[in-house]
Amino acid sequence: MGTSDTGLRVGRIDPADREALRAWSVPSRAAFLDVAPTDEFLDERQRALAGHRLTAVHDTVAGEERVVATLRTFDAEVTMPGAGPVGVDAVSTATVLPTHRRRGLLSRMLTADLERARREGHAFAALIAAEAPIYGRFGFGAATRATSLVVDNSRVAFRPDAPAAAGSLEFVPAGRTAELAEVHDRARRHRPGGLDRDAAWWEAAGRRGEGRWVGPRGQVVLHRDERGAPDGYVAYDVVDDSVGRVPNGTVHVRDLCATDPAAYRALWGFLTSLDLVRTTRARDRPVDELLPHLLVDPRAVQTGPVDDFLWLRVLDVPGALAARRYLGCGTLVLRVVDPLGPAAATVRLHVATQRCGADGWVCAEVTTTDADPDVVLSVGDLSSLLLGGTSAVALHAAGRLGGTAAAAFALSTLMATPEQPWCPTWF
Ligand SMILES: CC(C)(COP(=O)(O)OP(=O)(O)OC[C@H]1O[C@@H](n2cnc3c(N)ncnc32)[C@H](O)[C@@H]1OP(=O)(O)O)[C@@H](O)C(=O)NCCC(=O)NCCS
Repeated sequence: MGTSDTGLRVGRIDPADREALRAWSVPSRAAFLDVAPTDEFLDERQRALAGHRLTAVHDTVAGEERVVATLRTFDAEVTMPGAGPVGVDAVSTATVLPTHRRRGLLSRMLTADLERARREGHAFAALIAAEAPIYGRFGFGAATRATSLVVDNSRVAFRPDAPAAAGSLEFVPAGRTAELAEVHDRARRHRPGGLDRDAAWWEAAGRRGEGRWVGPRGQVVLHRDERGAPDGYVAYDVVDDSVGRVPNGTVHVRDLCATDPAAYRALWGFLTSLDLVRTTRARDRPVDELLPHLLVDPRAVQTGPVDDFLWLRVLDVPGALAARRYLGCGTLVLRVVDPLGPAAATVRLHVATQRCGADGWVCAEVTTTDADPDVVLSVGDLSSLLLGGTSAVALHAAGRLGGTAAAAFALSTLMATPEQPWCPTWF
């Protein structure tokens, strides 16, 4: 990238250069309707963005060089079904000042970055879309979904067969996040869609205050198993809506993570029995949340809306299909259409039970072929299918997936996962 014929200059900035980072942060804050960057914000960002790739588009405005568009990418990991974490190019902070929008700046920055990621061997890019219509044209598809819960605490009674709440609970002081990070890291490796959180993520999470992960009235509670090992935590804020002397507190769960059903039950039991609190709300939760299954009255938990969360973009079709594992068996030829080019391919996906591991997940053989395809699909739709959160049968019924209904059914069966993919990590 460099100077273009439109007079705009595209280049990289180093997050260690504080004044360059300040100039870069101005449009990225303004485009998201946020306040200008403060010194405290810049201190934190300098630490958090070390090693990230920051693109800036400069323009001369009123005789002065200013940043008018930004993009940030970094290397991260996303968990694949049955296979654990794989590397992804994580894309964030895609912003263009309102004075410069719809001139192709996002397209220039993003296509250049996707080409770089592909050249450097990434099979995927990932992002969280501010608006759903933006990223399909760049080959992204919604791969995980998330929902919100509203729990009426007065109606919560756990079924007698729910896992017993063994172990212990303790409040965690601000800044102490090592055990939380350890629990999260174990949990995210098992569930498709899980994203890693680095030390800077946890450092920021450890600070409490207005607008942070945990607000000034918030708390973090850690669960330990009977041997004292951490196996779950919840971070929450509290809002007191009491009228007169009638208690009406609401707990807002920011993050709840457990590696064990007993820890999960203990944390929800704790939240829903807090004195002075009538309602527990949670956001960014999995669409197949366990809680209603544990309760005598599952309607104590109201769920919705459901929205897309993590979007994936396959950059290398054979690499992406081989990065996950499968349940069941079958052979399909897939033709993947990629308007931007890098992932266009026809491949034979062969999943044979002879390659089945002890855990039931099967490795696929993926080879390029010139055979006629059973299924024709866009790279965005393949990206949506890959973690198991979207049904190929539904895409076929919607007219998005070419081939017979039987082929779509076979692809749905191969891509299915026992748990819905879930990513609760903003980036
Ligand atoms: C979203 C945003 C980055 C787009 O930047 P931009 O430079 O205007 O985008 P481009 O000009 O490259 O647009 C490329 C195409 O996407 C379309 N597009 C861009 N933003 C869109 C949106 N929000 N909704 C629908 N379509 C959109 C454009 O119309 C254009 O379509 P065309 O090729 O058919 O003409 C910019 O408007 C912005 O900063 N918005 C506020 C912050 C934000 O939402 N960022 C996204 C973070 S995930």
